[in-house]
Amino acid sequence: MRIGVVGTGYVGLVSGTCFAEFGDDVTCLDTDITKIERLRKGDIPIYEPGLEDLVAKQVKAGRLSFTTDIKEALDGADAVFIAVGTPPKKDGGAEDGHADLKYVYQAARDIAQNIKKYTVIVTKSTVPVGTAREVEKIIRETNPDAEFDVCSNPEFLREGAAINDFMHPDRVVVGTESPRAQKLMKRLYRPLYINQTPIVFVAPETSELIKYASNAFLATKITFINEIADLCEKTGANVQDVARAMGMDGRIGSKFLHAGPGYGGSCFPKDTLALAQTGQKLGAPQTIVEQVVQVNAQRQKEMAQRIIDACGGDITGQTIGILGVAFKPNTDDVRDAPSLVVIPALQEAGAHIIAHDPEAMEEAAKHVSNVTWTDDPYAVTLDVDCLVIMTEWNEFRALQLDRIKKSMKTPILVDLRNIYNLEEMKDHGFRYVSIGRPLIDNLKASLSSVESVA
Ligand code: UGA
Repeated sequence: MRIGVVGTGYVGLVSGTCFAEFGDDVTCLDTDITKIERLRKGDIPIYEPGLEDLVAKQVKAGRLSFTTDIKEALDGADAVFIAVGTPPKKDGGAEDGHADLKYVYQAARDIAQNIKKYTVIVTKSTVPVGTAREVEKIIRETNPDAEFDVCSNPEFLREGAAINDFMHPDRVVVGTESPRAQKLMKRLYRPLYINQTPIVFVAPETSELIKYASNAFLATKITFINEIADLCEKTGANVQDVARAMGMDGRIGSKFLHAGPGYGGSCFPKDTLALAQTGQKLGAPQTIVEQVVQVNAQRQKEMAQRIIDACGGDITGQTIGILGVAFKPNTDDVRDAPSLVVIPALQEAGAHIIAHDPEAMEEAAKHVSNVTWTDDPYAVTLDVDCLVIMTEWNEFRALQLDRIKKSMKTPILVDLRNIYNLEEMKDHGFRYVSIGRPLIDNLKASLSSVESVA
């Protein structure tokens, strides 16, 4: 099949490349010429494991190309995916939570002017309920003679695991009432169908809501376990054990029950807010989701205080080492990352920050200033008063604890991702503060010796 993809962000680039891997002939379009030139050279603008190699493979095979010309992208296309950005809308400069659809609608107009034969136009960006119908209206108004159907096909891929998620989804959701479009979408996803991936055909509105409801539910699950973690700390319970046993109940499931510093990224924060706004606008308030948005924002702020408390309440003049600034591992994305809230708050409280992230330092440096960045995780530990694990990169899971302890000025480790074992921390003599687990503080002796040396 011939596929056009409008927008070469995360979703567009991954989907286009994966369709090419299925054997389709794909042209990806972007209005940003610099981006297209980079992509043509095999230079991938985002860090996503495996993507660079897969793009190179598909380009070499002649199944994947990049253009800024809409005519080229649509030439002979059976389906065109709209995968442009839907940033939060700005109302007088401030974000109001609604998704801004101007790029989606512009793409619809551009596509409409270039439809030459029956084409299925697919909205892949996360868009509010009603967008597919609106896209259909725009295309019909712009080009009344066009032969087309519009369908919604939300994406459920996670950054850092995007290719695997695309190739092995739990389900594919297709929102269209047109049997012709259904047939085409079924053909397109045939390689997954062979693997028995369920394809759920629904109305466009249902499809759009499935995406928001899924993300909001996962964000709620995380927020729920985060609050349980707080209760664990007050009661001496261990949140990892609570989550493990809860997860054994098939009705609950074990995934997305890892307590942490609050969710971030380009999806959950934006989508929960947009769903809450839609609920308000349509008179069906999503009060649970509204609470989730608030509780999560508050949690990210509270993480800085947790670190300050771990250091004894005053960090003026201290140096704090931060391991990980990306919102999650295997990405260079720092959008709505807890690190961007925590670092300025620690600086405000008088600390100097030294930090390392395997991929996200360049991105983070655009948002936080006066941070000493280093390429070596061990350099982050040198003479620091406290070490904080913000992101659970694999690189941080097996650090040499004796080496770190010797290198640090004071052996205080705040692990906001619970990647270390309590027993191990006890044995190595750290003050170890984690999330929803008992405090390990068997180093009072070494702390007082640090104080007496000072
Ligand atoms: C999320 C969804 O998981 C995808 O299914 C969806 O397609 C995507 O949004 C999207 O709408 O495009 P993503 O934002 O890439 O994917 O990352 P997640 O792995 O879902 O993590 C989101 C945040 O939740 C991260 O900050 C992560 O650290 C946090 N999280 C996740 C937890 O704190 N605990 C968990 O148990 C799981």
